[in-house]
Amino acid sequence: MTHPTRIILATNNPHKVSEIRAILADAPFEVLDASAIDSPPDPDETGSTLEENAIIKAKAFYEASGLWSLADDSGLEIDSLGGDPGVHSARYAGPGCTFADNNSKVLKLMDGVPDHRRTARFRCVAALVTGPDDVRIFEGAVEGIITTETRGTEGFGYDPIFYASELGHTFAEASAEEKNRISHRGRAFRAAGDYLRGLKPA
Ligand code: IMP
Repeated sequence: MTHPTRIILATNNPHKVSEIRAILADAPFEVLDASAIDSPPDPDETGSTLEENAIIKAKAFYEASGLWSLADDSGLEIDSLGGDPGVHSARYAGPGCTFADNNSKVLKLMDGVPDHRRTARFRCVAALVTGPDDVRIFEGAVEGIITTETRGTEGFGYDPIFYASELGHTFAEASAEEKNRISHRGRAFRAAGDYLRGLKPA
């Protein structure tokens, strides 16, 4: 297999697009996003795992574009909530909820939980689809602690309540470079980029 000249990111989330573009910045192929195709798909994420949902998205974009497709499915696992919100991270506070709604829900559910029981991690599964039945999976995770209040304005989603122990502050207080260096998405997509670069040039 040779490495592609173009690859499409199978996501409609602009925050993820800008993070993944930065992570794959030195890749020897062009990185396209949903704006490159006429009717970008928005498939229902009906899987029960991050991996299943990543494959659903990557296959939908592969079928719509005919290009190699790379999807991200990610979520926050909080130990004291039994691993929630996990695969339900995007709509944890209900249909149509905002990032702020989700953060408020988590902070409320964790009211009174002591520091040592506030452990959590972000997980990311990247699915690369290169043919009708050709799927490859890359994973990344980062450990942290859920704060008792929001801190910082950078990033998106649960970033203001995720204290990354490796950085000493929340993801929303980190620069894009700092976050990408250690994040679940940085780790999964660098692995995908390494794999793609390792293929023979076309
Ligand atoms: P997905 O689009 O189904 O992968 O849902 C991911 C959801 O998890 C997002 O809507 C965010 O709420 C959350 N999430 C994923 N990655 C991050 C991140 O890097 N920072 C903060 N929240 C994230």
